[in-house]
Amino acid sequence: MTPSSTHTLSTNTKTDWRRTHTCGELRKQQVGTRVTLNGWVHARRDHGGVYFVDLRDRYGITQVVLGPELSDAVKLGPEFTISVSGKVVAREPHNVNPNRPTGEIDVVADRLEILSRSNTPPFPIDAEEDVAFETRLKYRYIDLRRPAMQKNFIHRSRFINAMRRAFERQNFVEVETPILTKATPEGARDFLVPSRVHPGEFYALPQSPQLFKQILMVAGMDRYFQVARCFRDEDLRADRQPDFTQLDMEMSFVEEDDIFRTWEQVLHETFRDAMGLDVAIPFPRMSWKEAMERFGIDKPDLRYGLELVDVADWAKQSEFGVFKDTIARGERVMGIRVPAQHPLTRKDIDGLEEQAKSTGAKGLAWWKLAAEGGSGPLSKFTAGEQGQKLRARMQAQDGDTLLFVAGKQSLVWRVLGDLRSALGKKFDLAKGEWRFTWVTSFPMFEYDEQEKRWFSAHHPFTAPVDWSMGGDNPDLSTLSSRAYDLVLNGWELGSGSVRIHRSDVQQKVFSILGIGPEEQTKKFGFLLEALSFGAPPHAGFAIGLDRLCALSLGMDNIRDIVAFPKTASASCLMTDAPSTVAPEQLAEVHIRSVLPPSAQKPA
Ligand code: AMO
Ligand code: AMP
Repeated sequence: MTPSSTHTLSTNTKTDWRRTHTCGELRKQQVGTRVTLNGWVHARRDHGGVYFVDLRDRYGITQVVLGPELSDAVKLGPEFTISVSGKVVAREPHNVNPNRPTGEIDVVADRLEILSRSNTPPFPIDAEEDVAFETRLKYRYIDLRRPAMQKNFIHRSRFINAMRRAFERQNFVEVETPILTKATPEGARDFLVPSRVHPGEFYALPQSPQLFKQILMVAGMDRYFQVARCFRDEDLRADRQPDFTQLDMEMSFVEEDDIFRTWEQVLHETFRDAMGLDVAIPFPRMSWKEAMERFGIDKPDLRYGLELVDVADWAKQSEFGVFKDTIARGERVMGIRVPAQHPLTRKDIDGLEEQAKSTGAKGLAWWKLAAEGGSGPLSKFTAGEQGQKLRARMQAQDGDTLLFVAGKQSLVWRVLGDLRSALGKKFDLAKGEWRFTWVTSFPMFEYDEQEKRWFSAHHPFTAPVDWSMGGDNPDLSTLSSRAYDLVLNGWELGSGSVRIHRSDVQQKVFSILGIGPEEQTKKFGFLLEALSFGAPPHAGFAIGLDRLCALSLGMDNIRDIVAFPKTASASCLMTDAPSTVAPEQLAEVHIRSVLPPSAQKPA
């Protein structure tokens, strides 16, 4: 029974309150029919005892006219849930609302039933102004009533379903893999779940289905996909949530090309079926090295130029000591040309220099070109032929500004990559078309200066280009892997690789990563064993669905395409998770919390 109903008794067994149409459905053709609508009171206007109610549901808004005989009309407040019945009538021509699909008709009600009352909502559903994000999250069910938000989730649903169909057309099988499992390293911390039955033991939530999908290949599944929930305890940003969704896949007896072609087809069909868009395929490909050299980053935004240029040959013979010495040390000097059409003021350049320094550069050398030599610290070294040479190298003209950074290769790439993206934002260049690209041939390993050890650039299951991995004494910094990323407009959409399908190579990679034989058996024994039972060569890929859906709607944050997202500190403001649990519940799973002093509450 609906407690708040006063006008008519409403029970689940009584059916006359149920809608005959949605609030987005009625048109002129239905004039004269009797209908019942259910929905939320979006707005109520009082015209001297006659109420005009905008009744809203997921499908739209219909105006309902409630005469004085429907005495409950006076009680209606915003977001009450009601049921009305009445006749569809045509509006007078001057009352037609051309902005609303239902704008040609009204429903003149002869029955009103309040199904559910509402407290005053924390913010109006049609709020144009910004509502604090915390408030939106705490009352997410109100936030999700907003038509713009509903559109996002309808889009997401369509998108995922189109993708599923595209994979099925290519003979992929969707297999669900466990959530309670063993750690799957993808570079983040695990979320752990204590076991009640096995005291002192823990499940880990999967960072991805990586090991299961490889084992499904050993199992002969051949083509697997899954809409997979993944869990990573890592610092959150605009494009990251602690639990998120991947469209994960794996294929047997394939190489890079097969994966690329499969995904190009799937994405083409998905955009076509879900959005009516024609995404051009195949996508261009570039090696990791090329991406770094041209854009300073492995996820380049190809919608604008401002590419990096190597000026080692000029720097080597210049009179600018900083540059000359840098090259003599075997390091790099690279620059960016900012064309005259995007003028930089002195203040802009100071800001860019500050940014460069805050990210590790020693400085930012610049030259603003002009007929009489120009300005900037480098102008001292660009007289005559020296200047001509640098102009030619940078393909620069009067009015352009050249920005240079000298230092270690990784630093120069990073600093100039950041400057490029800051300039792209500043001049509003990062907009418009969709520019997908594959980035291939990532390094196999990366050295972490702080931890003083090697890490996998992708994950430890990625195949090396050379199965012998440089023999017994390899230079790890030069080894190339068969990992690839799909990049769209400066975002990493997805990653994958050809996998190691040989137990001996997998063991060698583990050893390089500092995982000794005992730990290998403990953590990954099941994988090594599976690989020793006729594992087919295989490769795969996973796309971040939240990211893809957000980008497909032109959003720069994934939180509005995730129904119940977490804050930057990984809290759910609606449910208040994470939260403490009763001591008995902890005892059951053999856990005692030892809080750091900072988290202890005063007695
Ligand atoms: P990777 O770790 O690169 O690869 O993840 C694949 C894609 O998942 C998305 N993603 C995220 N989205 C939202 N929030 C997060 N915290 C988050 N972390 C990752 C990104 C990313 O590109 N097992 C491998 C794939 C493979 O090798 O097949 C993997 O998980 O869009
Ligand atoms: P200095 O020789 O330190 O006075 O620097 C002269 C100019 O060169 C300044 O504009 C510095 O910002 C710039 N500069 C110094 N070191 C570097 C570097 N490693 N890369 C690029 N510019 C630099």
